[in-house]
Amino acid sequence: MKRLTAIALLVGCGGENVVFAELDAQERTDYMTDTVLPEMQAEFEAFDARFANMSCNTCHQDTTFAIPNPDLPGLDLTNPPTGAGADFMADTVVPRMQELLGDDTLDCLSCHPSL
Ligand code: HEC
Ligand code: HEC
Repeated sequence: MKRLTAIALLVGCGGENVVFAELDAQERTDYMTDTVLPEMQAEFEAFDARFANMSCNTCHQDTTFAIPNPDLPGLDLTNPPTGAGADFMADTVVPRMQELLGDDTLDCLSCHPSL
């Protein structure tokens, strides 16, 4: 009951005041499922319809669920990528994930491997 109340509060405030790092393992999974996936699925789909079926494994590696995900394109931030995809990442994905996870240190390399 206590946990359900905590989760209702998390969802109720839209996730803006959650500090993901302070959640326990079950709460992390629940928050990803109830808030991060639906919020980010909507952002990704608005960018490109091929993300209509975005899942946990769009970000996390399929087999091990790792993040950073070695299957995402590797990035060299001294020579950052350009174009619509890179702009969407910098302008929407990074700031939105920082808000959702309460972590202003989250960056490209929180998801992508470093080259
Ligand atoms: C938009 C990308 C994205 C999606 C979609 C996503 N995650 Fe995550 N997830 C992350 C990032 C980034 C982190 C790492 C946060 C951090 O730095 O602590 C993370 C962390 C986690 C963690 C904590 C790992 C740890 O070491 O504590 C779990 C568990 C998790 N995600 C489960 C899920 C599940 C289950 C789903 C689907 C319901 C999901 N995630 C969907 C990006 C995503
Ligand atoms: C929350 C996790 C996350 C963060 C943070 C993130 N990305 Fe991504 N990135 C993804 C995912 C998921 C995809 C889509 C992979 C796919 O096509 O299945 C992607 C795709 C891309 C692509 C390919 C775009 C295309 O047109 O297909 C580029 C380039 C990219 N990211 C660069 C960046 C850069 C640069 C940053 C930092 C400014 C960044 N990413 C931050 C998760 C992330």
